[in-house]
Amino acid sequence: MKISNLKVYQFQTFNISDVNYFPKINIRNDHERKYHDRILEIDYNFMSALRAKKWNKFIKNFNSISDELVRLDDNEAINHEFFKTVLKKLVYFGLSTQNREIDFENPRYLIKNFKIDSKSLKKYISYTELMKENNTRILKVNLDSEIKTIINDQVKNLIENHLNERIFLPWGHVRFSSLKFDSCICKVRKLNPFGNYHYDGDIYSFPIIIYLDKVDKKNGGFSYVEESLNSKVSYTLRAFSDYSDSANTSWILAGDINKIRDDNNYHKFLKLPKILQSSKAVSFMSGKNNFEKYSIKEFNGNAGDTILFDGFHIIHEGGFPINGDRFALFINYKFPRQHINKLKSKILT
Ligand SMILES: [Fe+2]
Repeated sequence: MKISNLKVYQFQTFNISDVNYFPKINIRNDHERKYHDRILEIDYNFMSALRAKKWNKFIKNFNSISDELVRLDDNEAINHEFFKTVLKKLVYFGLSTQNREIDFENPRYLIKNFKIDSKSLKKYISYTELMKENNTRILKVNLDSEIKTIINDQVKNLIENHLNERIFLPWGHVRFSSLKFDSCICKVRKLNPFGNYHYDGDIYSFPIIIYLDKVDKKNGGFSYVEESLNSKVSYTLRAFSDYSDSANTSWILAGDINKIRDDNNYHKFLKLPKILQSSKAVSFMSGKNNFEKYSIKEFNGNAGDTILFDGFHIIHEGGFPINGDRFALFINYKFPRQHINKLKSKILT
């Protein structure tokens, strides 16, 4: 199937703003309108709670709105369990962001590129030959103190000041990407050439990618959507789409339109009120035609070129090689999730 022959499918009708912030969706009936207004109300209450760092009133409001929506809807997927899961996620997002240095009205998310002398990467570059020989896709590596110091000097303060949390460097992974490894992500690309652009699901995800060889668009360079660097994000819609992703959207990965059409979860997804039909796989949901209007910024470079980015808030893709291989060292700082989870359990009981 040629990419150029593909149509925009029924589920590819969103604009980026729909998944980023509040949608200008075509409201088809009173039921859709009620949903739209109520979800907007939840979001308004959420943002107030986020600014005040006070969650009890928000939780009460959320529960009363969700009671109303459950009564309103005879869709079996919209039940108390559904809203309970979304609420947990939303409170988690709130607690994780309430101390951050973000102007929620005019955000500017963290992204920074810098260079590491390739001499300091010798050990990691030496692994790549072996990986190539053995077709090893991912190799977990301990970081030596030299590289830890270099990275910490560049970005530790930046991230800690942004999060208002202490963080530390754990281990890294050398990843080998090549056309010879078939992957789900590649299948999604068959349906939509932008199909792999996404938000990371983890709100604490601040990945660092260090190239270990020459990397450009052809062999899988990292790229991101420039507009998403300062687009408002609706945490409410993200919490709902997170639920959909884990419960209902495995069909996205099939990469085969015939399989998707027959997929039960796909049909369940289509029955959701339109405002809740979003996903972290943002480009796939928005469709090729909507997505290609945006500016894609490529990060190409040589061994030692490094980028840090806020994966939860910035639309990006790791890149998939169409010609040649890519080797890169991936590192993620560790965050105090336990502390946030304890706080969340306390608030929600
Ligand atoms: Fe990602």
